[in-house]
Amino acid sequence: MALAHERVFGQRADLLPVAAYKAYIETYGCQMNFADSELVAGILQNTGYGFTQQPEDADLVLINTCAIREHAEEKIWQRLRYFTSLKRQRPHLIIGVIGCMAERLKKRLLDEAPVVDLIAGPDSYRYLPQLIRQVESGTKAVHVLLSREETYADVAPLRLSPNRVSAYISIMRGCNNMCSFCIVPFTRGRERSRPWESIVEEVIHLAEAGYREITLLGQNVDSYEDRGVRFAHLLAKVAEAAPQVWIRFATSHPKDMQDEVLETIAQHPNLTPYIHLPVQAGSDAVLQRMNRGYTAEWYLQRVEAIRRYLPDAVVSTDIIVGFCGETEADFEETLKLMEAAQFDSVYQFMYSERPGTFAARRYADDIPPEVKKERLERVIQSAQALSLARNRLQIGTRQRVLLEKPSRRDPKDFVGRTFSGRTTVVRGAAAFANPGDIVLAEITDATSATLIGYVSCPN
Ligand code: SAH
Ligand code: SF4
Ligand code: F3S
Repeated sequence: MALAHERVFGQRADLLPVAAYKAYIETYGCQMNFADSELVAGILQNTGYGFTQQPEDADLVLINTCAIREHAEEKIWQRLRYFTSLKRQRPHLIIGVIGCMAERLKKRLLDEAPVVDLIAGPDSYRYLPQLIRQVESGTKAVHVLLSREETYADVAPLRLSPNRVSAYISIMRGCNNMCSFCIVPFTRGRERSRPWESIVEEVIHLAEAGYREITLLGQNVDSYEDRGVRFAHLLAKVAEAAPQVWIRFATSHPKDMQDEVLETIAQHPNLTPYIHLPVQAGSDAVLQRMNRGYTAEWYLQRVEAIRRYLPDAVVSTDIIVGFCGETEADFEETLKLMEAAQFDSVYQFMYSERPGTFAARRYADDIPPEVKKERLERVIQSAQALSLARNRLQIGTRQRVLLEKPSRRDPKDFVGRTFSGRTTVVRGAAAFANPGDIVLAEITDATSATLIGYVSCPN
């Protein structure tokens, strides 16, 4: 493997010259998958591929898939039906399934979807050029071996988004936690951290290219560790390497999040106080069956620590309703915890059994779908009320907003996010501002999803 300093940094796909063969990459799932698609694009670019936004123009279609819930996989089967019809018109088209569902289903995907030529799991992207050559020579290609070392530290991502404002950097891969409901440890393998020097170099490169916001990604960033450099140290190094760039990160794990991380954020003006801290459930019995490694009380103490170090912090969470054996009383504990934590935003999911996980093997998926739905609805109601109340507290304040794009509702307005991560509509900003500008906005109104404001002083 090449050394970190040998990494040649990526470019933007929309600025590349037109190449003979065109690839189209469609991405599902979490931010890490989106970051992986940029690595894949970097690898393909080195083999001479150009890129297209239309599968109908492509010579190679790669679908970067997610396996987190059954619904995520259903969507992929549906897309494969479309690509089957596309291949009838373009017989030379190569179709590959990559990512977490490729890793989970392996060769079965080839059997069940004859249109698929190539399967590559998340640790197999380095082999894509060989796999494509194998398909060109007439055989289907599969590579799904998980690795204990692969971090792609020497692979330069090709930035697929034409937006030069925000970028993702994966700082680690895999997960060792084995939450009983979760497929990720099976699809992404053991946890490994990318060398800190290569992360800092990429941050400097992105800052020089004009990016204003970088999000550091890992399934559990708090367990980052590279030769004695822990996550708090990495954050400090990154913050100091690019003082003009807003640095965000996700995901934090309640059992591992240390005060030193919160202290480091408080000490650096460009580390943003946005903490995504998935709780999953409020009942200790459910948390134990989920193998999350903390109690509700422990979780609330962690939220208290966040508010103590970072009074302006935005705290968001993930909640699963209807996990195996969840009683009405258990569920009410979740609602109680939401109230106590005063979440700014909540991502809620109905439990979806994943074959091979501990929960699938040991517990019955015994909550009827209509009960799951009803509980989900109650979480949504409660989350909306909390978000609205939290957002309304911002009315009358002035917030720095990093502008991302014109609003779809009214192109005269701009949508962006405050330093702490609240989505904000800035009225009338399109007349004088551009994506990537940071403006000072006076917040005059709020809904549960957004703040609304006017520029008080362009910056
Ligand atoms: N690493 C992160 C989250 C990874 S997956 C963490 O530790 O929290 C993102 C979210 O999907 C999880 O937080 C969980 O809420 C949800 N999720 C994972 N597996 C699920 C399943 N089997 N059914 C429903 N939701 C699930
Ligand atoms: Fe899945 Fe748990 Fe790892 Fe998150 S910490 S990716 S929920 S196993
Ligand atoms: Fe999905 Fe894999 Fe991410 S299962 S959520 S794409 S790690």
